[in-house]
Amino acid sequence: MTKKKRVFSGIQPSGNIHLGNYLGAITQWVASQDAYDNIFCIVDLHAITVPYEPQSLLAKTRELAGLYLACGIDPQKSAIFVQSHVREHTELTWLLNCLTPLGWLERMTQYKSKAQKQESVGTGLLDYPVLMAADILLYDTNLVPVGEDQKQHVELARDISQRVNFLFGDIFVVPEVVIRQSGARIMGFDNPEQKMSKSDRGQFHAVNLLDDPKLVRKTIMRAVTDSGSETRFAEAGAGVLNLLTIFEILSGWERPRIEAHFEGKGYGFLKKEVAEIVLAALEPIQARYRTYADDPAELDRILKQGADSVRPRATATANRVKTAMGFVLPT
Ligand code: TRP
Repeated sequence: MTKKKRVFSGIQPSGNIHLGNYLGAITQWVASQDAYDNIFCIVDLHAITVPYEPQSLLAKTRELAGLYLACGIDPQKSAIFVQSHVREHTELTWLLNCLTPLGWLERMTQYKSKAQKQESVGTGLLDYPVLMAADILLYDTNLVPVGEDQKQHVELARDISQRVNFLFGDIFVVPEVVIRQSGARIMGFDNPEQKMSKSDRGQFHAVNLLDDPKLVRKTIMRAVTDSGSETRFAEAGAGVLNLLTIFEILSGWERPRIEAHFEGKGYGFLKKEVAEIVLAALEPIQARYRTYADDPAELDRILKQGADSVRPRATATANRVKTAMGFVLPT
């Protein structure tokens, strides 16, 4: 039997998890749990690189964990843990900091665009990609599935790993980036030219996984479409295509069947059908989420179990690096 490849994904406990995250990423993770050795990390240390509220970080960290479990991440199969619970993430970040040229960080496009939006920029914002490299490299990760926006950061993690291997011998597994296929790129309901985004504050932009059913219906019924009546995948405008894509993923139907179902019925019918299928998908997720929200002790127990299961590997990697760099390890 060949060894399963290790996959590491990080998710920030900020903003709301929406339908685009669910259809574009979470469902794929859930489906891949048997084929890969998956680690899901709630990256709370990344979330403090921009201005934030402690109360909100606290609530969002548990909310995200509960939601991932509710969506079908099975802690018996995949490790799910909170980044700050494994101290080696911060420790390795410092070691890598001292081996990473400043210029590599200064040219990161996400840093440049985030820094522009803020009055004062914390050192952590510049250092964010090194922390991300530490996340990935601690676990001998083979594959890192991310959206296009994080590709440059994973490439930096590769560069750092190769530099350390060159300087100190074979220390790190060099990770590979996996860009999620664009098949499930879900667009904003209020603006179908733009990808559904966690940080967009538009009232009818996204459907969040924990939204009230009334709001879900309202948001989808208000979805921006053109004024035509085209409901074929190949001819539809961006707004209609988005609705058809959501229906396609959630129904599992073939395209010809979907096109026949909607032909000549108008966009009102399409929206109603999409709203119903989205609500049917959200209902069991919200019900399971409530069981975790009602029992935070159980949730914390699962997160502790997750951290305990990954920590030995993180410690081993950090020790390997420290030994190679000339540190005296504590006895
Ligand atoms: N920076 C990533 C994001 O915002 C989150 C992240 C942190 C991550 N550490 C990671 C993703 C390690 C993949 C691997 O989306």
